[in-house]
Amino acid sequence: MDQNIDKPMPSESYLYTAATLYDVAAIKNLIAPFASADIMLPRTESELFENIRDYQVCKSSSRLVGCTALHIMSPKIAELRALAVHPSHQSQGIGSTLVQICINEARRLGIPSVFTLTLEEDFFSQHGFVRVPRETLTQKVWSECYKCPKYDRCDEVAMLHHV
Ligand SMILES: CC(C)(COP(=O)(O)OP(=O)(O)OC[C@H]1O[C@@H](n2cnc3c(N)ncnc32)[C@H](O)[C@@H]1OP(=O)(O)O)[C@@H](O)C(=O)NCCC(=O)NCCS
Repeated sequence: MDQNIDKPMPSESYLYTAATLYDVAAIKNLIAPFASADIMLPRTESELFENIRDYQVCKSSSRLVGCTALHIMSPKIAELRALAVHPSHQSQGIGSTLVQICINEARRLGIPSVFTLTLEEDFFSQHGFVRVPRETLTQKVWSECYKCPKYDRCDEVAMLHHV
């Protein structure tokens, strides 16, 4: 984890914006420690470049401290994925804001449902997601699972939000 990101000041303001290619390295570095801890899937730079239009980021004094992505699976459903907030900036409302930005984006695009696969059931419950049986989600949802080190011992729950 990057220890050079200082603790936030109480009055610190955050900028939320669509990601650009300049953010790729910082997104990868933000996610990497969580991936090493088996909390998230790792994201390679090539994958981030290909999907950069999915990503929203949060910056503090130009430093990237949060990210998430909304990935369209079909006209009916999108995945909220890669949600991460740097530990020194957690519990400031950044994760909640990033989730809300994705929900708003899904609404703007006309996508009726957003799902996520997560270990953070309580966090997503607070944002209108409900747990659903994994089998009810389209097969395409599992297209990323082969990348997961926990492929044969998955402990994530599937959660759905009607937009
Ligand atoms: C899950 C995660 C994204 C949450 O991000 P966050 O920025 O800490 O989330 P928020 O600050 O919006 O909300 C977290 C808590 O702060 C509270 N909170 C919300 N807004 C707040 C604010 N303005 N000030 C202080 N606290 C606030 C929330 O009520 C919530 O309380 P809880 O601990 O009882 O759940 C973050 O913990 C994380 O990156 N975890 C590791 C990666 C991960 O698990 N990602 C999810 C994979 S799907």
